[in-house]
Amino acid sequence: MHARAVRPEAFENPKKTPVSRHSGDFFAVPHATFEILPSAMPTAANIRDDVLANPGFGRYFSDHMAHVRWTADAGWHGHEVRPYGPLTLDPAAAVLHYGQEIFEGIKAYRHADGSVWSFRPEKNAERFRRSARRLALPELSDEDFVGSLKALLAQDQAWVPTPRNEADESSLYLRPFMIASEKFLGVRPAHEVDYYVIASPAGAYFKGGIAPVSIWLSSHYKRAAPGGTGFAKCGGNYAASLAAQKEAEKHGCSQVAFLDAAENKWIEELGGMNLFFVYKDGRLVTPRLTDTILEGVTRDSVLTLGRDEGFIPEERAISIDEWRDGVASGEITEVFACGTAAVITPVGQLISEDDTIQMPDAGNEIAKRLRGKLLDLQYGRAEDKHGWLTRLV
Ligand code: COI
Repeated sequence: MHARAVRPEAFENPKKTPVSRHSGDFFAVPHATFEILPSAMPTAANIRDDVLANPGFGRYFSDHMAHVRWTADAGWHGHEVRPYGPLTLDPAAAVLHYGQEIFEGIKAYRHADGSVWSFRPEKNAERFRRSARRLALPELSDEDFVGSLKALLAQDQAWVPTPRNEADESSLYLRPFMIASEKFLGVRPAHEVDYYVIASPAGAYFKGGIAPVSIWLSSHYKRAAPGGTGFAKCGGNYAASLAAQKEAEKHGCSQVAFLDAAENKWIEELGGMNLFFVYKDGRLVTPRLTDTILEGVTRDSVLTLGRDEGFIPEERAISIDEWRDGVASGEITEVFACGTAAVITPVGQLISEDDTIQMPDAGNEIAKRLRGKLLDLQYGRAEDKHGWLTRLV
């Protein structure tokens, strides 16, 4: 499975003549043409169907990956879709030593008519450029970003699951990432960089589906500090969260919540998701964006969908004391986590070394309602009045 095709010399040549879509060997998108190297051994349909029936999260991968190379001399070039498989990296590649890496998470959804769509990919493209600037990596154009998703999906559309019903949130999770591949141990931005997109069929991120999750409040680990990389989607932020995540698991929790580094008081985000607080008077509060918080695409969409549903969205600082007191007084009725992978997942309790904030067991109706609205949009069951969907196939 996933044999690596031989890479002809011509692929090193960035100058390609644009050809029409689906010519067989090329896939043209605005400003670029992806050369197609089909896998010699694609996964058999029955094996793929077994995977799609129960994909879990991040365990299985489609037959191809998109790739674009960057060098300081030639810029972005060598657009291709090639068989999924191990990368050849020099042991001195900068990413292995200094972590010069960024990534994105975005999903492809199959609609009832068989077409495949992504949700606000231009937001991910924009964030990817922002992350690149912070990590001193080259910026990839929005056309190349969205084009790479389309080029990969043109090959691997069979890997997009068909949802069985409205509660089924299966999709093809796309993971664009960029690494510093230059062989050089000096500490400076790399002169050679590779961008890839891999695709993984995905069901619910949490094992319990939308059952409320328990969160561990990290008391001494911090995820991000002012001036650091917290707002960027880089591997280092996630690596920095893992010791706290281990601590969370030791306490029976599936995620970890971080407070700010300066005052140890303000709620920032979970290891890989943003947080929302539902107030009984209709306010929908989420920590305002700072350079220590990742600007989630789902977060931004929930603010808009919340307003559409008659809630009053508020982006502001919210302290751990406000969470504790708000639940005790009944002001805060629900808390939920959101992200591309997690969609919208209710929080059942926040456990810390000092105490536990137990959320009311009242059904998490608002989280479920917003989640339903979001999924209906993503799967084409509701009118896309904000123009958030982009067709991939
Ligand atoms: C996503 O939601 O796409 C992320 O990148 C978060 C990660 C925890 C899977």
